[in-house]
Amino acid sequence: MSENIRLGIVGLGNMGKAHRQYLLDGKINGLELTAVCSNATSLPEAREGEAQFTDVGEMIDSGKIDAIHICTPHPSHREIGIRALEADLHVLMEKPLAVHKSDCQALIDAHEKTGRKRVFSAMFNMRTDPHYKTLKRLIDDGETGAVRRIHWSVTDWFRTEYYYAMGGWRATWKGEGGGVLLNQCPHNLDLFQWLFGMPDQVTGFCNFGRYHQVEVEDDATLYFRYADGKNATFITSTGEAPGVNRLEVVTERGLLTVNDGFIRWTRNEVAMSEFSDSATAGFSKPPTWSVKIPVAGHGGNHIEILQNFTDAIRDGAELISPAEEGIHSIELANAALLSAWEGKTIDLPMDAEKYAAILAEKANSSTFQKKQIEASTASADDFANSFKH
Ligand SMILES: NC(=O)c1ccc[n+]([C@@H]2O[C@H](COP(=O)([O-])OP(=O)(O)OC[C@H]3O[C@@H](n4cnc5c(N)ncnc54)[C@H](O)[C@@H]3O)[C@@H](O)[C@H]2O)c1
Repeated sequence: MSENIRLGIVGLGNMGKAHRQYLLDGKINGLELTAVCSNATSLPEAREGEAQFTDVGEMIDSGKIDAIHICTPHPSHREIGIRALEADLHVLMEKPLAVHKSDCQALIDAHEKTGRKRVFSAMFNMRTDPHYKTLKRLIDDGETGAVRRIHWSVTDWFRTEYYYAMGGWRATWKGEGGGVLLNQCPHNLDLFQWLFGMPDQVTGFCNFGRYHQVEVEDDATLYFRYADGKNATFITSTGEAPGVNRLEVVTERGLLTVNDGFIRWTRNEVAMSEFSDSATAGFSKPPTWSVKIPVAGHGGNHIEILQNFTDAIRDGAELISPAEEGIHSIELANAALLSAWEGKTIDLPMDAEKYAAILAEKANSSTFQKKQIEASTASADDFANSFKH
């Protein structure tokens, strides 16, 4: 076993503070916090062995870190990520990988240029959730048979006006570059493509500032069409309380739902196409068994990704969420917004440069004045607790 990896965290807001606390509490084996960087007016009380910086370039060049965790607002992910990769650091990106596909590609190219020598990972912590891991195993092992249709209503991302007013960057085209699809849903859209692959076409129906005083989307319905003809719908919002989180997957071997802490499988005894082809009565259906698959907890979440990042650096462990894969959730989100703006279906792969240009134009021409309060005053514990479902 090699020496501890020396980590620097950049950005000490909600997420950065929570990650710092995991490290100070000794929750990650082999990962040591040796530096932090924040451009906010106040830095936390320094701990022994923790260098503090206000300029990320200085932290990157300090020789005090082997790896960096980028916890700044997403518009800065591209620049800081490339700078760190070029300095030969291992890089863990917060989600989303970047604001748009073109920036994601620039990050991936920078990693390629270094010969992929360093570990490049992304914080898609929901991939550690045993509900989705079990579902993926059932699909990938062929137990469910082919997937025929998918519907995911994930409207339990409720956020208040206070949330949007925290941190000047949130929920404007210039500051954040998107709304619920870019901030909350990279997790779900990442799971969508991880479980079911990428569609060929995306249509987006978005409401901008429907529930909040924001100029970006806070309510969206997406339609995906896949090469094999399957259809999928994805509904999300930050304005509905209590909201719902229900994933339905129609397969040859029946209906699987992920909801309320369980996977329920209404399992067809005979694959549905096979039954339809061989049935001798018009209104019959395959007999079913109802199976409730118990799933314990919600996985290791952030801590598991941090541990996996460390193990990948020290021992070559396979990454749970390679950063390169972060481009897919962004392409789905970007395509949905482009579709909503242009009122038409977008074919994938989308035109990334065109999207980047339209977004820049929206950012530059916006006159929107958003409500603003001091950056987050929530404690690291409050924020970390919000992940304990
Ligand atoms: N994986 C998850 O579950 C999860 C959860 C929340 C947020 N995030 C992601 O983390 C990132 C940050 O979100 P947040 O909610 O913590 O935001 P935040 O506004 O609370 O904190 C961002 C911090 O970064 C600092 N900062 C900005 N630019 C900087 C720079 N160039 N150098 C140094 N410091 C800089 C700001 O001063 C601020 O303190 C976002 O990309 C967000 O999507 C991920």
